[in-house]
Amino acid sequence: MKNWNVKYPKRFDLGTREDYLKWRDEKLAAYPGDIGGLVVELGDMTAITPAEKGKILETVERANMCVYTAGSAELEANSLLALGQQLGVSRTDKSTRHSQSDELTDSGILGKAIPFSTRHCNWHTDATYYGSDKTIEALFLLCKRPAIEGGSNKVLDHEVLYIHLRDKDPGALAVLMNRDCFNYRNPATGEIDMSLGGKVFWTNADGHLCHRFSFRKTDMAWSEESDILAARKVLESLISDEPEQVIEGRLESGMGLISNNVLHTREKLLDSADPAKKRLLFRARFYDRVNPEYPG
Ligand SMILES: [Fe+2]
Repeated sequence: MKNWNVKYPKRFDLGTREDYLKWRDEKLAAYPGDIGGLVVELGDMTAITPAEKGKILETVERANMCVYTAGSAELEANSLLALGQQLGVSRTDKSTRHSQSDELTDSGILGKAIPFSTRHCNWHTDATYYGSDKTIEALFLLCKRPAIEGGSNKVLDHEVLYIHLRDKDPGALAVLMNRDCFNYRNPATGEIDMSLGGKVFWTNADGHLCHRFSFRKTDMAWSEESDILAARKVLESLISDEPEQVIEGRLESGMGLISNNVLHTREKLLDSADPAKKRLLFRARFYDRVNPEYPG
């Protein structure tokens, strides 16, 4: 383990550079070069061994995510919850959501929202609408059936995005870390909820970096103040340009993603006309984060 959170506690502090510079070099050097560097094979995701857990935590520390194979476990939502529990994350947002919202398939629910269709999803973190004071810190996926064609994901660790921003435009990053940048807007009524808003980057109580962002406009009311508009532009162009650390891969049946809600896309897909054969991924979202220093 790198123990960066203990070794460089001020790496996300914009007021000092020492920790940041050392951590940045180590982080970029350790970052996986491709999807193969993210994969951890598990014998049974519902009963992981100490060695498998160590490999997961080590990979999550390097990239805020890993791709796993489910092993002999059933490909069902409960297996995801069991995996979360073993990694110290268990507080889901399930009770506040549509009952089928954790089954990513072409169901047309929630007014045919993009995740429940075959369309392309642009870069985002999940659940931006909650606001930065009550955020989803971990996002887990498990694929039961892939699409006939397409449906791959691109992923990018938000700590890498933080590094690019800090090196390119620290002033913009300071705005994104300190100002209330966007609020939730109800797409049906256009009403803006001032209690659901907040920052784009911030650190949680344990000193880890959190991030919320989406290119989607319908439910996001960005501030129109000039410094926030300018910072948003810098952020959006960095993401659109896709830094070299972007990794792309497709989850096949029996594969999944453990992540600290990293930035991701989903490419458009060609699906089966037979409902029993449609692409189906289970999703679990947690208010907790997978911490490399998790002792359990
Ligand atoms: Fe998503």
